[in-house]
Amino acid sequence: EDPKLLEAFEARVTADEFIEPKDWMPEAYRRTLTRQISQHAHSEIVGMLPEGNWITRAPSLRRKAILLAKVQDEAGHGLYLYCAAETLGTSREEMVEALHSGKAKYSTIFNYPTLTWADIGAIGWLVDGAAIMNQVPLQRTSYGPYARAMVRICKEESFHQRQGYEIMIAMANGSSDQKRMAQDALNRWWWPSLMMFGPPDADSPNTAQSMRWRIKRETNDELRQKFVDITVPQAEFLGLTVPDPDLKWNEEKGGYDFGEIDWDEFYAVVKGEGPVAKERMTARREAWEKGAWVREAAAAHEEKRRARKAA
Ligand code: ACO
Repeated sequence: EDPKLLEAFEARVTADEFIEPKDWMPEAYRRTLTRQISQHAHSEIVGMLPEGNWITRAPSLRRKAILLAKVQDEAGHGLYLYCAAETLGTSREEMVEALHSGKAKYSTIFNYPTLTWADIGAIGWLVDGAAIMNQVPLQRTSYGPYARAMVRICKEESFHQRQGYEIMIAMANGSSDQKRMAQDALNRWWWPSLMMFGPPDADSPNTAQSMRWRIKRETNDELRQKFVDITVPQAEFLGLTVPDPDLKWNEEKGGYDFGEIDWDEFYAVVKGEGPVAKERMTARREAWEKGAWVREAAAAHEEKRRARKAA
């Protein structure tokens, strides 16, 4: 690679200019962005499954309408992100194929089961809460199409977080059974939510370079700490207990100290050994296969339309 081009590129990044699809960029920048954006897109798409599972069982029409809208939003997020990744030169077909063949990663969080309605509250509150914490800084990521996709995604994500917290408020102030379900959901989703931010900075192979290129604007550990600091008072407001005996306010650092994350569990889930990883991928592949006729019909329609226009 031409050192002059590289130098000019790095100067633009340092000046907080957006890099656009037709601009020159180092191959490693293109590769790592394609990796991150496509994993992000896959997470949005696979993320529809744990919640989609509850659409038919939502406890009221209002809850059902909200959940349906939220799951549709996730599909939209996946599509913007695939488009953003495509501008870097990989086709959507290639990305989807990588997901379905098990080559591509998606967030570990979606390989845990949703056992009760309280899980839908906990996912909105914790999982979407963690997603926002990670995504707000990505609105200033150095690649233009990714940054712009993030603006709308963050707006919708913040509605998702609120709807989840509102479910938790209802459950935590409901009957003793509902409160128990809310606590149980917090117990099961707390640690996996902290894992969403990725490995500790010291063990994160991508962070240093991604910070230099301003793809990431904050590190995994910084975002995880912020998430804990914001979320613990929310749990207190609900009257629920965060399942971490080592959680303690640290006056000096102005944040919470928290217990050790089970990184063996994290790496096992990354490798595809999550509790419902197989079900998730089977559901994804089935949806893709069953939807083939829709894609074919849309393509045939488009071809006819074009032929008619040309005639
Ligand atoms: N689940 C699955 N894989 C993960 C996770 C996780 N929670 N955290 C890290 N990894 C993977 C990384 O993808 C990387 O693997 P790779 O090199 O094969 O791609 C490896 O573990 C090492 O991690 P890092 O070096 O820390 O990787 P990176 O710098 O990409 O940071 C992070 C990971 C924080 C997830 C980053 O990619 C990111 O910010 N992505 C955008 C946000 C996102 O994907 N959110 C998805 C969940 S939220 C939602 O969709 C609702």
